[in-house]
Amino acid sequence: MGKLLAIETSCDESAAAILDYDSSNASITDALISSQIMIHREFGGVVPEVASRNHSINLPELVKSLLDQNQLRPRDFDAFAATGGPGLASSLLIGHSFAKGLAASCKKPFYSVNHMEGHLLSPFISSGEKSIPPHLALIVSGGHTMLIKVDGLNQYQLISKTIDDAAGEAFDKVGRMLGLPYPGGPEIEKLARDGNSKQFSFPRSLPGKLDFSFSGLKTAVLYTLKDLGYNTHNLPKGKILADLCASFQQAVIDSLVKKTLKAAQATNSRLITLSGGVSCNLALTNALQEALSRRNIHFLPCERKYSTDNAAMISYSAWFYHRQGLHSPLNTNINPNLALA
Ligand code: KG4
Ligand code: ZN
Repeated sequence: MGKLLAIETSCDESAAAILDYDSSNASITDALISSQIMIHREFGGVVPEVASRNHSINLPELVKSLLDQNQLRPRDFDAFAATGGPGLASSLLIGHSFAKGLAASCKKPFYSVNHMEGHLLSPFISSGEKSIPPHLALIVSGGHTMLIKVDGLNQYQLISKTIDDAAGEAFDKVGRMLGLPYPGGPEIEKLARDGNSKQFSFPRSLPGKLDFSFSGLKTAVLYTLKDLGYNTHNLPKGKILADLCASFQQAVIDSLVKKTLKAAQATNSRLITLSGGVSCNLALTNALQEALSRRNIHFLPCERKYSTDNAAMISYSAWFYHRQGLHSPLNTNINPNLALA
């Protein structure tokens, strides 16, 4: 048995997780997340400088609490990991340097983990899977929207991505236009439940293509608001607000489902995984579940607690590299634009 401590600070969540493992199994023993959402809400989005300052305040406390509540000390760990990118440079630096410091002082290996690989592997955390089956992965987060053909660990082929905004980014930007608090995704989902998704006909961009595009949809919402006579001093409320949310959300879901089905067919995939913050959206998971089960394609969404940014997915990714002895040198740098495939 061994223990791995992982840290995630790529955006506005400071997170730490403990993973217990042996050669064939891994499980998350405990994990904590300290979210800065309420701080950034005031600015309508994440302010990088504010995020990194808060990581530097919150992270040491968070790690101390996690270790104390599990009666562990740094030297009880066999390996340390942190997100190395992609993400906000000044935020990544805090967690990456913190974990490197622990690894150096305890003379244990350090693993610099790709945040997107964390999301990609997160659907398999719950079963503690030690090998990754071939599948097609849909990752939908605040910064990324992509379909990746996975043939095994580190065998990733990018099938398609967004040519402009990510799905989560579209939710957040439209949320802002509608006067909703940051992040827009969960707020829009809540309001959409009471809305009519057919009330407004918003575009499903790049039909027939595998790539995604959400910026035209965002602009369509903006023009609809203008046409209806709304502005920042006169925001939609009640039924109209719910209908706008439902119609917008449905347009995003339709695009995601259609392109995923098309890519599944093109890659002959029998298993589709879903991860990233937007996978919290129940209307999306239900729509994908339904569309895939009609085609007898297995669907594995990540557990809700591993959808938005967390350190459990970072610890799980690091475990694969730890098993192969592929540690990262202590001079490994962060990379805000780190690619996955
Ligand atoms: O994966 P994540 O925590 O961070 C990034 O790596 O970007 O994703 C955050 C994104 C935000 O854009 C947020 O609005 C979106 O996930 N999100 C949702 C929902 N919950 C979070 N989008 C739609 N519906 C939700 N329920
Ligand atoms: Zn993320």
